[in-house]
Amino acid sequence: MTDQVYKTDALIAQDIDAYLESHQNKSLLRFITCGSVDDGKSTLIGRLLYDSKMIFEDQLAQLEADSKKLGTQGQEIDFALLVDGLAAEREQGITIDVAYRFFATEKRKFIVADTPGHEQYTRNMVTGASTAELAVILIDARKGVLTQTRRHSYLCYLLGIKNIVLAVNKMDLVDYDQATFDKIVADYTEFANSIGITAFTAIPISGFKGDNIAAYSDATNWYSGPTLVAHLEGFDLDQNTCATQEFRMPVQWVNRPNLDFRGFSGKIAAGSIKPGDEVRILPSGKTSHVDRIVTYDGDLDSATAGQSITLTLKNEVDCSRGQVITAASAPLEVADQFETTLIWMDEEALITGRYYYLKIGAQTVSATVAEPKYQINVNTMEHAAAKTLELNAIGVANVTTDRDIPFAPYVENRTLGSFILIDKMTNATVGAGLINFALRRAQNIHWQATDITRDHHANLKNQKPAVLWMTGLSGSGKSTIANAVESRLARMNRHTFLLDGDNVRHGLNKDLGFTDADRIENIRRAGEVAKLMTDAGLIVITAFISPFRSERQMVRDMMAPGEFVEVFVDTPLSVAEERDVKGLYAKARSGQLNNFTGIDSPYEAPETPEIHINTTQMSVDDAAEQIVKYLMRNNK
Ligand code: ADX
Repeated sequence: MTDQVYKTDALIAQDIDAYLESHQNKSLLRFITCGSVDDGKSTLIGRLLYDSKMIFEDQLAQLEADSKKLGTQGQEIDFALLVDGLAAEREQGITIDVAYRFFATEKRKFIVADTPGHEQYTRNMVTGASTAELAVILIDARKGVLTQTRRHSYLCYLLGIKNIVLAVNKMDLVDYDQATFDKIVADYTEFANSIGITAFTAIPISGFKGDNIAAYSDATNWYSGPTLVAHLEGFDLDQNTCATQEFRMPVQWVNRPNLDFRGFSGKIAAGSIKPGDEVRILPSGKTSHVDRIVTYDGDLDSATAGQSITLTLKNEVDCSRGQVITAASAPLEVADQFETTLIWMDEEALITGRYYYLKIGAQTVSATVAEPKYQINVNTMEHAAAKTLELNAIGVANVTTDRDIPFAPYVENRTLGSFILIDKMTNATVGAGLINFALRRAQNIHWQATDITRDHHANLKNQKPAVLWMTGLSGSGKSTIANAVESRLARMNRHTFLLDGDNVRHGLNKDLGFTDADRIENIRRAGEVAKLMTDAGLIVITAFISPFRSERQMVRDMMAPGEFVEVFVDTPLSVAEERDVKGLYAKARSGQLNNFTGIDSPYEAPETPEIHINTTQMSVDDAAEQIVKYLMRNNK
């Protein structure tokens, strides 16, 4: 079933180039339709496609095939068939993504994002709305403003859609009554003003009968505004582009076909540029002047927002993928801490403190999310307290990146102010974020250079620093083996320090418990301490359950290359439970202890540890010897 949908989309994708070429001089409007199936969304989209009479033949054929499969009668494509096809397609595609439809009129080309309306598909709607410049919000004239209307309007507003059309549909079913229309418009105005939508265009329509879609309806002669198609065709696109702002272009890639040519390619996110203009590269802050604007069709005298170009600069300055070229006199802000609005898109809830990839523009960095300040109830717009964000939840939370990034607040620029979060282990997109503003405090803390370096510390001790990171279940033998390793190293005159979970939890980490978020913070702090100790030249041995791959990777990434040695102390749960040295497994089994690793809290075993100790087959001494040997071999 879903193959069918992809196939249709693929056909459209194949043809869109030819299609767009034949309409090259027409402007393109991307918009989104919102409303539930009952509001007549499929009928409206069907009507727009049908009336425009410029649908792809492939698209028609596919829709016809889909609707035939549903058992609809009819040899030729007709309006009812088209609508059935659209409905069938969306039902099939409902859980996978957003359906994009293409059509054109005499004056303009259109891409309409058709997304499901239920709350559980909030993320789909967010995806569709993120590239739309206009939203058509459908209302059933018999029902008026509903919770769904409010939710969809709020999401459109949140995603920066400034142009809203309130399409009051099914006017034929209320006898084209003006009072009904006026009441709905008044209700909506009150709501819209309360969330910050200051203007919208209300149009009485019937998708089914075609009233006020492409042609004026005689039945609503009390209405003097535009038809829906006239509004979509006539609406001023320029007010949406960022052409009048200062120049900004994230560098997608650096072109260096030969030593004489170095070009920076990307799509202009705001403003315009011409040869000779002075530009600044962020975050480094270096300046240069534009030499040429290169495109496939030859050099340009100027280029503006929305165009994809390659810039060459007058002098050689460092600029790599992900950096942003801006007007020299008006650079972007650069920061590493932000207040953001986040939309969570994954089945697994947000884990505060965990490192995710954050992709903004062409740049990917690592970032953590703090506990949300609040979550927004998308039906009532109320703020509620939240510890995390579940699938489809929207909340406001601070985000910290591992380095400075150039950005603009989302309200100023959608490209430079939005990002996605990606799970480091699964590579799935788990969230979408809008930058509200940068937090000032980051700008006042600078790295202080010191005279005595980490090499100096290590040389004094005549050793190379390392972290021997034991991971395994509670009772697996981590502490015992760690202790044996440290004793051996001490006999070899090595300077060591042993960080043991139970001990660290008595002091530095005594405020932490055993929730996922607390364990992540436990490991983050342990990692930072281990890092300071390697800076001091020590060989650090740690014994923490450290149950998550993601955080073990985080600690590995903190250390210098080769310094982190992951030791998997592999003891089957049944064996650890049988040993039960501290009696904790018994407590966990009897329900007196919650979130116990291996019982009701996960342990993610290492996939490729440097050292794998199977404690059921190896004595403590042998294990310690193996670890020390590894260290001596690899860490001379
Ligand atoms: S970690 O998961 O955050 O890495 P850590 O190694 O610091 O854990 O602490 C684990 C020790 O805390 C265990 O050896 C055990 O003695 C004790 N402990 C108390 N409650 C729990 C629990 N719910 N899960 C695991 N260990 C627990």
